[in-house]
Amino acid sequence: MRRATITGWGKYLPPNVMNNKDLEKIVDTTDEWIRKRTGIKERRIADESTSTSDLALKATYEALNKANLDPKKLDLIIVSTVTPDMAFPATACIIQDTIGAENAAAFDLEAGCSGFVYGLSVGAQFIESGLYDNVLVIGAETLSKITDWDDRNTCVLFGDGAGAAVLQPTEKGGFLSFDLGSDGSGADALYMEAGGSKKPASLETVKNRQHYIRMEGNPVFKFAVKTMKNASKDVLKKANLTTDDIDLLIPHQANTRIIKSARRRLKLDEEEVYVNLPKVGNTSSASVAIALTEAVEKGKIQNGDHVLLVAFGAGLTWAAGVLEWNQNI
Ligand code: ACO
Repeated sequence: MRRATITGWGKYLPPNVMNNKDLEKIVDTTDEWIRKRTGIKERRIADESTSTSDLALKATYEALNKANLDPKKLDLIIVSTVTPDMAFPATACIIQDTIGAENAAAFDLEAGCSGFVYGLSVGAQFIESGLYDNVLVIGAETLSKITDWDDRNTCVLFGDGAGAAVLQPTEKGGFLSFDLGSDGSGADALYMEAGGSKKPASLETVKNRQHYIRMEGNPVFKFAVKTMKNASKDVLKKANLTTDDIDLLIPHQANTRIIKSARRRLKLDEEEVYVNLPKVGNTSSASVAIALTEAVEKGKIQNGDHVLLVAFGAGLTWAAGVLEWNQNI
């Protein structure tokens, strides 16, 4: 059976590190509170002149290089982001032009922090159907640009970064199944109020600080704990696998307490879960893409391994995918 697999991977984190002590100087918080309640120690922050596409491009070049793929051969570019360069055109089109992917279709996809896994599933469908052979999926964010640095409930959580993956066909292994879902009744738990058609940007919206992320932490936390387990179980069932078959879980990096709870509920050992949250914070769409790239670079994924990717995010949404790693295509 023709499936999609990952043949190239890349990541980029901007060099500027902001640690918890830096945050203590900005808002009423402590390093201890942040570490205890979230697990985060530091995060990367893009400088003022850096946009989401700048981060995405660096991850893209790395992924194309790994896959040894000429950008002209790309059929499709999908960028998952909640912080596009502009409302339109799509950031994917900016990437397409910059890398000279003249034969590629391009569009952005928005599913909060689940977006990269959503993007992988969309790209995989095009490959499985035989329509396309080379798909680039990017998760990239500059959340610092929509973070309210006066709001301690959110500003301690987020970071900037990008990750990318090249999808190509394989006859062996590859993505075995996906599970996607949404619960729009939780839309008001995580949102940016103004700047869309409902509340266009105005002096009033800027004055009222409505162009920033707002979040109800507790409902999102509860949703995350529940869906990380359920989506993982569902996607494994679709692949005729159980948690015993999983070699590595790569969860969305939002909170170590959420990750720990998912690990326990799935009965996985600590070394079967990849965690980079303490060093990068929550990079939304980029989170799973960056973690996956790091895990491969650190030799934590070998041929034949079953890798479970699972994420949750604004929407509310969730997404999971099971990948049988295979680099002998
Ligand atoms: N420093 C110090 N105290 C704080 C801070 C802070 N940065 N933030 C909140 N507090 C205080 C609160 O005001 C509250 O004080 P009170 O008891 O006097 O009212 C107390 O700490 C406890 O607050 P809670 O919100 O109950 O803390 P909780 O343990 O739930 O942790 C957190 C909050 C970390 C936000 C948690 O709820 C969480 O991780 N939720 C999930 C968030 C998430 O994953 N969001 C991303 C989704 S993905 C996407 O699409 C971007």
